[in-house]
Amino acid sequence: MKHFLRDDDVNARQQRYLVDLAKFLKVHRYDARPLLHATSSASATPAAPHSVAVIMEKESTRTRISFNIGITELGGNPVMVDAQSSQLARGESIEDTARVLSGYVDGIVIRTFGDDRINALAAASRVPVINALTDGFHPCQLLADIMTVDEEFGGTAGITIGYVGDAGNNMAHSYLLAGAVAGAHVRVAGPAKYQPDPTIVARAEVIAAETGGSVTVLDDPVGAVKGADVVATDTWVSMGHLDRQFRLDDLASFQVNGDLMGHAADHAIVLHCLPAHRGEEITDEVIDSPQSRVLSQAENRLHVQKALMTWLLTDHAWEVPGWDARPAFVESENNQ
Ligand code: CP
Repeated sequence: MKHFLRDDDVNARQQRYLVDLAKFLKVHRYDARPLLHATSSASATPAAPHSVAVIMEKESTRTRISFNIGITELGGNPVMVDAQSSQLARGESIEDTARVLSGYVDGIVIRTFGDDRINALAAASRVPVINALTDGFHPCQLLADIMTVDEEFGGTAGITIGYVGDAGNNMAHSYLLAGAVAGAHVRVAGPAKYQPDPTIVARAEVIAAETGGSVTVLDDPVGAVKGADVVATDTWVSMGHLDRQFRLDDLASFQVNGDLMGHAADHAIVLHCLPAHRGEEITDEVIDSPQSRVLSQAENRLHVQKALMTWLLTDHAWEVPGWDARPAFVESENNQ
C-alpha cells in the first residue's frame, strides 16, 4: 500500500511525473475523470465514483476546498469530514477509524496533529492515505510549490530556494525534503530556537547528494536569500501555537520585506503557502508585488492533488485522454 505522508515518499522521478501530470491537468482541467469507475460496454452497471474521505482535524480553506473540487473534477465522490462532528472528537481511535473507512472509501486525506497519528492511520488503513498537513510536514503544499517553481523557471534542478522564518515548522521540513528531491539548493534560516529537526536535515542531505541539490541551515535571513531564485516564508504562529507574542518577538528580524528581497536575485519569485499574516512574516509590499506567485501557488494545490490522487488511488487502471506520458517506472515503483 502506497501512501503520501512525507515529501520523501516520492523520489525524483515520481515527483517529476506528478508535476508533469499536474501541468497537463491544469490545461485539460475537465477532461480527465479517472476516479469514475469505467464500465465495459457489456455491463449494464452504470459508472460509479471512487469515494475519498477528507478528514479535517484542524482549520483549512485551501486544502479543504481544493480537495473537494479536485475529487469531484476527477469524477469521484468527496466525503468531507469535519472531525469535530465525527466520533474522532469523542475519542474513537484513529486505527478503528482507518479500518472502518477502508470499507467505505478508496482513499483517505487527513489534516491532523502529530505525525504519529497519521502514521497510525496509514498502518491500519487498507486504502492510500494522503497527508493534508501534520505538525511535521505539508507535502501537498510542497508539490504545489515545486510545480510553481517549475512553471516559472522551466525546471527545478539547480534552483536556489531561500526559506526564512520558523525553520522548525512543517513547511521548513517539507521544503528541505521536497526541495532536495527536486534537485534544488535549499537554504532555510531561522533563529536558534526555530531550527529544523536534525533527522530531517540529515535525510534531506542524503537525498540532495543523489539529485544534485544541496541543503543549508542558517540563522541569518540574508544568507538564506542572497542570490536566491525563490524566497519563501510561512506564518510565524502555526495552528496549535499558544505563545504568539513570544514568537512574533523572536522572529521579527526574519520578516520578508523589501530590504530582504533586495538580497535575492532580480528575477526572484516569492512564495507563501497562505494564509499570510501581513505585517508579520511578510509585508504587503512583497506579497502584492510583481514577484509574488502566491495565487498561482494556491491554485496549483488543486492540480497537483488531482495528479496525486490519479496516481495513488487508481492502480493506473485509468485513462486521461491526451495524456500519454505514463512511464514504466510508475508501474514498477508504485508496487514497491
Ligand atoms: N496552505 C494551506 O494549507 O492552506 P489552508 O490551511 O487554508 O488549507
